Amino acid sequence: MINMQNILDLNGKVGLVTGAGQGVGRQIALHLGAHNAGGVIVNDFYLERAEAVAAEIVQAGGKAIPLQGDVSNFESVEHMVNVGNQHFGKIDIIVNNAGNSGANPESVVRGVPFWETDPKSWDPWLDVNLLGVLNCCRATIPGMVERKEGRIITIMSDAGRVGEQGLEVYSAAKAGAAGLMRALARSLGRYMITANTVSIAATNTPALASRLEDEELMRKMLNNYVIRRIGEPSDIANMALFLASDASGWITGQTYPVNGGFSFNL
Ligand SMILES: NC(=O)c1ccc[n+]([C@@H]2O[C@H](COP(=O)([O-])OP(=O)(O)OC[C@H]3O[C@@H](n4cnc5c(N)ncnc54)[C@H](O)[C@@H]3O)[C@@H](O)[C@H]2O)c1
Repeated sequence: MINMQNILDLNGKVGLVTGAGQGVGRQIALHLGAHNAGGVIVNDFYLERAEAVAAEIVQAGGKAIPLQGDVSNFESVEHMVNVGNQHFGKIDIIVNNAGNSGANPESVVRGVPFWETDPKSWDPWLDVNLLGVLNCCRATIPGMVERKEGRIITIMSDAGRVGEQGLEVYSAAKAGAAGLMRALARSLGRYMITANTVSIAATNTPALASRLEDEELMRKMLNNYVIRRIGEPSDIANMALFLASDASGWITGQTYPVNGGFSFNL
């Protein structure tokens, strides 16, 4: 039964947010914490970032623990999930947010076309953006299947949906993660577990800081946005919270652009 006073109430559900030490992931973790999550597991590669965000949630009256972990390493993810389970008793929501949104310096910085890049340079994009999502799903789904409920949410990029020159490997990895959501949606529906993707465009986070300082670049960039501003982490967190809540129980296998109209879905 959905509480109509607050349809986004998480009713004690426990969430793990990866890469939540800053930017989009931080705001998603804060949103979960503020909407009656039974616990928020704040993961980041950098412990001090995770600690700061977990402290913010607790200070605001929520429940959270920080956990250092590298999503691209399955042992690290398994450890994180075990500690989270021990602490909060379950994990109902996994938000695959950790991403390596940097451009391949070979392609973008040095102007080398994809077909001339060194295949050995591709790993950082594949490891975090695709393997990381596979790892986190593999580790958290068994508990959800056992309890017959769960929410899987992956933050992708419009680069993966519509393609971006110079970001070929990143685009491929992100599109792969969205494909994983669709496949999982099919196998997990019978367990009342949903799997969806949020596809985002330029968002005001530390990852984008250097580009935000370049006024000329920003002016050109905003010409591509129907709503002429870049995204704020809360724009993305609002959608993630909805997909984590009971209100989205009949929505699965979908990709939702949250992008100021940078591109449209059918
Ligand atoms: N900011 C944008 O404009 C933008 C646009 C499109 C997509 N995205 C996607 O949104 C998500 C969040 O982006 P952001 O801008 O907040 O990024 P960010 O770089 O500001 O923050 C990402 C966080 O993830 C952590 N992280 C990186 N690799 C990790 C790993 N292997 N294990 C655990 N943590 C790790 C980092 O330490 C960092 O704290 C990413 O998936 C990114 O690809 C961002």
